[in-house]
Amino acid sequence: MIVLDGKIASQSVKDSLKQQVADLMEAGKRAPHLAVIIVGNNGASETYVASKVKNCAEIGFTSTLIRLESEIDENVLLLQIEALNNDAGIDGILVQLPLPKQINEQKVIEAIDPAKDVDGFHPVNVGKLVQGLPTFISATPFGIMLLLEYYKIETKGKHAVVIGRSNIVGRPMSILLSSNSKFGNCTVTICHSHTANLKEICLQGDIIVAALGKPEFVKADMVKAGAIIIDVGITRVEDATAKKGFRIKGDVAYDEVAAKASAITPVPGGVGLMTIAGLLKNTLQAYHDRS
Ligand code: GUN
Repeated sequence: MIVLDGKIASQSVKDSLKQQVADLMEAGKRAPHLAVIIVGNNGASETYVASKVKNCAEIGFTSTLIRLESEIDENVLLLQIEALNNDAGIDGILVQLPLPKQINEQKVIEAIDPAKDVDGFHPVNVGKLVQGLPTFISATPFGIMLLLEYYKIETKGKHAVVIGRSNIVGRPMSILLSSNSKFGNCTVTICHSHTANLKEICLQGDIIVAALGKPEFVKADMVKAGAIIIDVGITRVEDATAKKGFRIKGDVAYDEVAAKASAITPVPGGVGLMTIAGLLKNTLQAYHDRS
């Protein structure tokens, strides 16, 4: 059994990006610039945003963090996005989700210039992904593909079971795994809350991507011996014995499933770190596309 280590794989991506930025600097060019907007102070979002900013600095990107109050009117956010769309010095724009209830997430996603949409959430970019055209791939599915590539996981002809159909992970993941590409060519089944016989379907999976947001949902008796397990879950579960008062749990019961799998991502230290690698790659791509 191998542990698919997001720390090692993401570092490899970041080392390459850092070198590319150093080359740009040496050629007298400006650094790629990511703008991150956070609305309110959701604890998990704060952590993710801080990590994105820190990782930008590590590889030599410029980043700007814009903080908006949780009570703001939707228009305030839309005007902020418009300003960033029109700012020639900004390559990528990321609005951390979820947003407060008074703000329409879809409207916000569609307000971002598709050329700066490094999250790959804009319908234009999702449409390109579906058609197999070059685009910004949503950072988590992109990161998972980079992880499969780093560990040279053979995917062709395998049955991949994706649990979860979110726009951010499950749906784009299913498209990538079924695409005619080096780490695609799977036969894909997408499962969701209305799927009948979920356990039987999971048992047929050579690859399982668990992205439903339910801690330790995937148990050993749902997994075929030798399966490859990708755990996208990152739920905070209260735990008074933990320093922060919570622990991060994945969607997979790690110990029992690891005993049966041929490869598995840990949580934390797996897919989460790859998400950042995907985002950074998208940002450099946006920079080059716009230069
Ligand atoms: N919230 C959870 N995941 C993501 C992500 O990949 N991008 C953004 N913008 N918000 C998120």
